[in-house]
Amino acid sequence: MFISLEGIEGCGKSTQIVLLHQRLLDHGMPVTLTREPGGSELGRHLRALLLHQQSANLTAHAELFLYLADRAQHVAEVIKPALTAGNVVLCDRFTDSTVVYQGYGRGLDPHLLDSLNQVAVEGCLPNLTLILDLPVETGLRRARKRNVLQDLSASEGRFEAESLGFHHRIRAGYLLWAALHPGRCAIVQADLPPEKVGVKIWSLVAPRLGLG
Ligand code: TYD
Repeated sequence: MFISLEGIEGCGKSTQIVLLHQRLLDHGMPVTLTREPGGSELGRHLRALLLHQQSANLTAHAELFLYLADRAQHVAEVIKPALTAGNVVLCDRFTDSTVVYQGYGRGLDPHLLDSLNQVAVEGCLPNLTLILDLPVETGLRRARKRNVLQDLSASEGRFEAESLGFHHRIRAGYLLWAALHPGRCAIVQADLPPEKVGVKIWSLVAPRLGLG
């Protein structure tokens, strides 16, 4: 079982993925928790390049190919071996982030990005994608506050610094892309207390793992 979590900046993915991880461990499931960008050794270098404010002049294509390089290495080095070993894999962002951010956000063709993703993942795609949805203003407020509190604005703040219009395109892009993949994608309302969001996520995951 391969589960990805997606959503706009500040949607609460990181909190929810940790809660879900713990819940699966409590049920005795072997779980691999990972993320993009930065799930492999190479990826950690790419993440620093991709998210730093100093990379503001990256072209859309350069950015795209760095994310795809991160993904190809991550799938080969971490995700495929974990699935082969029988683990549940939980991944904080995956292929849909590329379609939505580089496609709907930067203006590249989402269907071309879908094909390039297929090359990068060599058949390894999530069974379930949870898309945490909330108003852009709420998410950005949370994300920018977190960056200031954790002193991450320079090192990880490149996307948070994008225009409001960009972030509205990301939210709309997720909703549109999810509607095109109804069997795999589930939208989870995320402007609720974290425990409530966690309950909803568990209700989507548990039955698929025979834990319902
Ligand atoms: P993430 O670490 O999840 O940041 P946050 O917790 O602030 O959401 O993701 C880093 C950024 O990388 C995020 O702004 C989205 C972007 N991204 C893409 O643009 N394309 C991709 O393919 C991926 C995986 C991430």
